[in-house]
Amino acid sequence: MKKITAPYLKEMKKKGEKITALTAYDATFARILDEAGVEVILVGDSLGMVIQGRETTLQVTLEDVIYHTRAVSRGIKRAHLVADMPFMSYQISPEQALESAGRLIKEGFAEAVKLEGGVERAETIRKITSAGIPVMGHIGLTPQSVHKFGGYRVQGRDEEQARYLLESAKAIEEAGAYALVLESIPWPLAKKITESISIPTIGIGAGKYTDGQILVIYDLLGMDKEFNPRFLKKYADLHTLITEAVGMYIKEVKEEIFPDENHSFEG
Ligand code: KIV
Repeated sequence: MKKITAPYLKEMKKKGEKITALTAYDATFARILDEAGVEVILVGDSLGMVIQGRETTLQVTLEDVIYHTRAVSRGIKRAHLVADMPFMSYQISPEQALESAGRLIKEGFAEAVKLEGGVERAETIRKITSAGIPVMGHIGLTPQSVHKFGGYRVQGRDEEQARYLLESAKAIEEAGAYALVLESIPWPLAKKITESISIPTIGIGAGKYTDGQILVIYDLLGMDKEFNPRFLKKYADLHTLITEAVGMYIKEVKEEIFPDENHSFEG
């Protein structure tokens, strides 16, 4: 079993091998995804929405991400573990960013960190990578800027935005990042960015021409029946499965079917 590392992901791009990435927030899910063979597990600040039930990712703290990353690390043997840098844990200064990234590595056992933003984050990325910490960039629809965007809208549709995203991708690579998430941008732009840089791009809502794909695990499994964005393909309907299983449990307890003698201790 070969451990997946940041340099290995760069090799995958060179070989034209697609990268698969998913989020996880606890050891049980991490173990299942790791054993299934996914290359990258991200402890995303999406945990604010799918775990904490918030409207946005903005209230997630560094302590929250450290806690979940440490749990996820216990479930992983092979996958590359990336921790998201939450809102306001890296925007104040490159020094603050390095300190936060260091905590995610030392206390969370992450192997890399991810942060949002374009060309304006180059200095921060340089600072973190200079300490030997691999950084994954994230551009396009960056959820920590939801209020600036006025909602969760596709980015890079007009020429000016597209130019900014392409320049950002190049600046992020230049600053030393080893991979780049492209979120909710038109596929022709994602293709152009992917062809313009040598580090792997990992898309979500960015079409098929990126070097890899990432999804939030709860979305892939169909846990929320109300969440149906265009980019999402649900590979299971766990909402229905869980509702049916719990419904059966309730019925059997009420009707004194469960627990029967096979599920009880005699002496
Ligand atoms: O927080 C998250 O889960 C993410 C991925 C969806 C890219 O940033």
